[in-house]
Amino acid sequence: MIHMKQDFQGMPFATTVALGGLSLLVYFFIRGFISNRRGGLAKLPPPPVVPGLPLIGNLLQLKEKKPYKTFTKWAEIYGPIYSIRTGASTVIVLNSVDVAKEAMVTRFSSISTRKLPKALKILTFDKCMVATSDYNGFHKMVKQYILASVLGVNAQKRHRCHRDTMIENISNQLHAYVKSCPLQAINFRKLFDSEIFGLALKEALGKEVESIYVEELSTTLSKEEIFKVLVLEPMKGAIEVDWRDFFPYLRWIPNKTMDMKMQRMTFCRQAVMKALIKEQKKRIAMGEEINCHLDQLLSQAKTLTEEQIVMLLWEVIIETSDTTSITTEWAMYEIAKDPNRQDRLCREIQNVCGSDRIKEENLSKLPYLSAVFHETLRKHSPVPIIPLRYAHEDTQLGGYSIPTGSEIAINIYGCNMDKKQWERPEEWKPERFLEEKYDSMDLYKTMAFGGGKRVCAGSLQAMLISCTAIGRLVQEFEWKLKDGEEENVDCSGLTSHKLHPIQAILKPRD
Ligand code: HEM
Ligand SMILES: *[C@@H]1O[C@H](CO)[C@@H](O)[C@H](O)[C@H]1NC(C)=O
Ligand SMILES: *[C@@H]1O[C@H](CO)[C@@H](O)[C@H](O)[C@H]1NC(C)=O
Ligand SMILES: *[C@@H]1O[C@H](CO)[C@@H](O)[C@H](O)[C@H]1NC(C)=O
Repeated sequence: MIHMKQDFQGMPFATTVALGGLSLLVYFFIRGFISNRRGGLAKLPPPPVVPGLPLIGNLLQLKEKKPYKTFTKWAEIYGPIYSIRTGASTVIVLNSVDVAKEAMVTRFSSISTRKLPKALKILTFDKCMVATSDYNGFHKMVKQYILASVLGVNAQKRHRCHRDTMIENISNQLHAYVKSCPLQAINFRKLFDSEIFGLALKEALGKEVESIYVEELSTTLSKEEIFKVLVLEPMKGAIEVDWRDFFPYLRWIPNKTMDMKMQRMTFCRQAVMKALIKEQKKRIAMGEEINCHLDQLLSQAKTLTEEQIVMLLWEVIIETSDTTSITTEWAMYEIAKDPNRQDRLCREIQNVCGSDRIKEENLSKLPYLSAVFHETLRKHSPVPIIPLRYAHEDTQLGGYSIPTGSEIAINIYGCNMDKKQWERPEEWKPERFLEEKYDSMDLYKTMAFGGGKRVCAGSLQAMLISCTAIGRLVQEFEWKLKDGEEENVDCSGLTSHKLHPIQAILKPRD
């Protein structure tokens, strides 16, 4: 109004009055509209409530650290959408594809912001990364950068050579191991993690390193130690956070030990990242340019601070290293457990590739391999619950009213275990994705990658790496679980990370 008055200073008095009248009218119109909308919303019922104790709500029921499983059980009683009380706040839990998609697509504009638990806030420098940022100008900018230099179709073509090297290395190391210790179980995770970490470093920083001197820690770290500081410890931190911290309602419970652990972890990570970046800046200063996220950010993103650049580079490293490895490991576990399906996969690859080694170009001709990948994503979704979002305005979901301030938990695990959508969801059965209604190259057959505007940016890379690796590993070796390994299906904490690394015995195929 102040602006209007200044702009309109020279206008005759009558016009001003008329304008004033107009704006009053507009005011009442908007008010009427809002209260109508409120009224409309009020007519919708609230979602069913899971009964809990007064004051602490449903917290005790969630105590076992696997909220995605508890949520899924509750969905069988209360339906795909319900609310739980958690002390001061309400969390709306979504457990079916329909309501999840409604939240991620149709009502996205009302629930696009994040609610981060404290541990994740410390760990991610409060929304400094693509995946944890609110949906705003910053998000759009940094997502554009990560797609252009790492994850988009063209960027993935440029990084192809790194993926090929990685697969060759894994294959070579497995052959060497099997030769020197035949019939001994191998720790496949360690080998795979180390190689995919190398790939992540190349994509983020341009080069892999064997070691780095870190001034703040006055020590030289090996590649394995760098992996520990940049990937293992932060993941462990995010996983082992007191489960209560994942859901912000109990943030008030003070835990100094935990806070200090997080601070220490973050300090080490920043120090190592900065040392790695400094090393690469020397390379750039010498005139050697590499197509990677660091070089792109330095040359294009002039408005970003140093801290932001550190976080965006770390994001590529942590996201590349973790989820793809979880998926591949579970796929190998399921295949090793199931000789018939392993044979079927092996035969498919043989029919298509003959004696040639499987390549990315061949993936579109291997529908069963693709089905194995998607069925693994369905049963062992690496992100079982999407980090909480919250409604910043009144909205609706599944025919229920959702008031401003509600927190929203999208239970991907629940969507993928929904008995109404999947026949015998607890079974690992790749054949279900061979049905005609599925396009074998569609990346979003399950909810594993999320959906809508915040859909996973790395799905293409995850598919390329995981499918090629699974294919090659089955093509070259016969997989068998070590005795007793079949029972080892526990996951660690809030994630679907296999608690104990797979113990498999490999026999080269001739
Ligand atoms: C099997 C592997 C993966 C799974 C299951 C997965 C799952 C997800 C899910 C569910 C989301 C959506 C979160 C939300 O809706 O709020 C997401 C977002 C994201 N993922 Fe992935 N992811 C995988 C691999 C990767 C890889 C390899 C990268 C690459 C570095 C990556 C980068 C991202 C980014 C940047 C976002 C944020 C997108 C945005 O907020 O706009 N992901 N991922
Ligand atoms: C792969 O093997 C080569 C040669 O042994 C090695 O230089 C490289 O660091 C390994 N890892 C990756 C990810 O390239
Ligand atoms: C605080 O965090 C530490 C370290 O993770 C944990 O061992 C401890 O049980 C927590 N204390 C409380 C009271 O929750
Ligand atoms: C598999 O990919 C390679 C290229 O890497 C190609 O030469 C070969 O023809 C492909 N095989 C089939 C059956 O598509």
